[in-house]
Amino acid sequence: MMKTGTADRIKVWDPLVRLFHWTLVISFTVAYVTGEEGDLVHFYSGYVIAGLLLFRLVWGFIGSRHARFADFVRSPREVIEYTRSLFSGHPRRYLGHNPAGGVMVILLLLSLSGTVVTGLMLDPAFDSVVLEGSVSNRVLLGDDDEERGEGYEEEDDEREGGMEGPGGEGNEVVEEWHEVLANLTLLLVILHIAGVVVSSRLHRENLVRAMITGYKPRDPEA
Ligand code: HEM
Ligand code: HEM
Repeated sequence: MMKTGTADRIKVWDPLVRLFHWTLVISFTVAYVTGEEGDLVHFYSGYVIAGLLLFRLVWGFIGSRHARFADFVRSPREVIEYTRSLFSGHPRRYLGHNPAGGVMVILLLLSLSGTVVTGLMLDPAFDSVVLEGSVSNRVLLGDDDEERGEGYEEEDDEREGGMEGPGGEGNEVVEEWHEVLANLTLLLVILHIAGVVVSSRLHRENLVRAMITGYKPRDPEA
């Protein structure tokens, strides 16, 4: 069981949620800025995010109390009521994610998942991963067309010119979607950070610090 803290502070975020969050912040930043570049760093940061999302999915069911989806996914009615209460100046305080924050967490996770899935579909290894291992291995170990036989040359040429995966027009559609989803995620992140700032002010508590230390004051007004 998690330690619940001293008299004036309560443990809210377990270490894995905090590690998840700040690793995600770093890897998302790296993935976003290396998108145009389309190099191995982009692939690796994308794979890291894929792993983080899988972890978070599992942790949403078996994690500590406030990490669970059941703790912060609320009915639309509760979300509306909470949002209304924000304007009253006395919003109800939640120890974990508030109902509006909960919606944002789910939107972020879905948008990130869409970005990662379309990214993986652009990975040249996507349709040959079973035969040859990941693209990263191939790039690191060097390509060997003779061993792999016909049909890969074109793909390799394309990859040298950029980071195009196999396939023609279908791939461009996926690339469009990948770009749209990456930018949608960025937009959500901006709203997310704005939400954190506004919530912190209204509740007179530092939510960012809580995501670093894991603790929230028992009574922020005190
Ligand atoms: C959340 C994670 C990710 C983010 C934020 C992200 C972001 C981006 C961005 C902003 C672009 C540039 C789009 C453009 O302007 O054309 C891009 C392109 C691309 N990404 Fe990702 N990406 C992610 C994950 C992945 C993954 C997991 C892979 C594959 C393993 C991947 C493969 C690619 C490829 C192949 C391109 C095309 C580059 C080109 O235009 O030639 N991405 N990504
Ligand atoms: C420096 C920028 C950021 C700051 C200061 C920040 C801050 C926070 C804070 C304070 C929380 C807890 C909210 C609450 O108390 O209810 C949180 C949660 C979360 N943030 Fe961020 N965030 C940042 C960037 C990002 C980015 C870039 C992403 C995704 C790409 C992200 C995704 C999430 C997710 C998924 C959660 C839910 C955590 C969980 O329950 O696992 N954040 N963030």
